[in-house]
Amino acid sequence: MQDKISLVKLADEARKNSYCPYSGMSVGAALVTDEGEIFLGVNIENASFPCGICAERSALAAAVSAGKRRFSAIAVSGGRMGEAPTGFTPCGACRQALSELCPADMPVLVARGEGFDEYTLSSLLPYSFDKSRLD
Ligand code: THU
Repeated sequence: MQDKISLVKLADEARKNSYCPYSGMSVGAALVTDEGEIFLGVNIENASFPCGICAERSALAAAVSAGKRRFSAIAVSGGRMGEAPTGFTPCGACRQALSELCPADMPVLVARGEGFDEYTLSSLLPYSFDKSRLD
């Protein structure tokens, strides 16, 4: 796999494609498959605000649409458009969406300034609801 800081930089570069005319906050995500392939996503806002989608779910949609189901890491970079990233941790909906297909111990790298903070998915979403509850 790429080294972690390179992955964070990919997420940060993706921010330039963010469509965020309402919040002015651009977010990019770089999701890595278990084979090391990388899928990018950005936030895509909408005049009907709830129709917008976050960068993390946008990356997940791209990867699953390409037939990928197994993931090993995600990097996220977000902040005011054109400025350095300010530690945008995934929102609750994105944590839940990622938890469907990603391992609990998967690293979640969150860009902040020139560096990044590292979490695991389960540290961000403890006691998650999962498909075992539907048995
Ligand atoms: N956003 C993301 O893309 N990912 C997150 O996990 C948090 C928030 C986006 C949604 C909206 O377009 C903007 O950031 C401000 O909330």
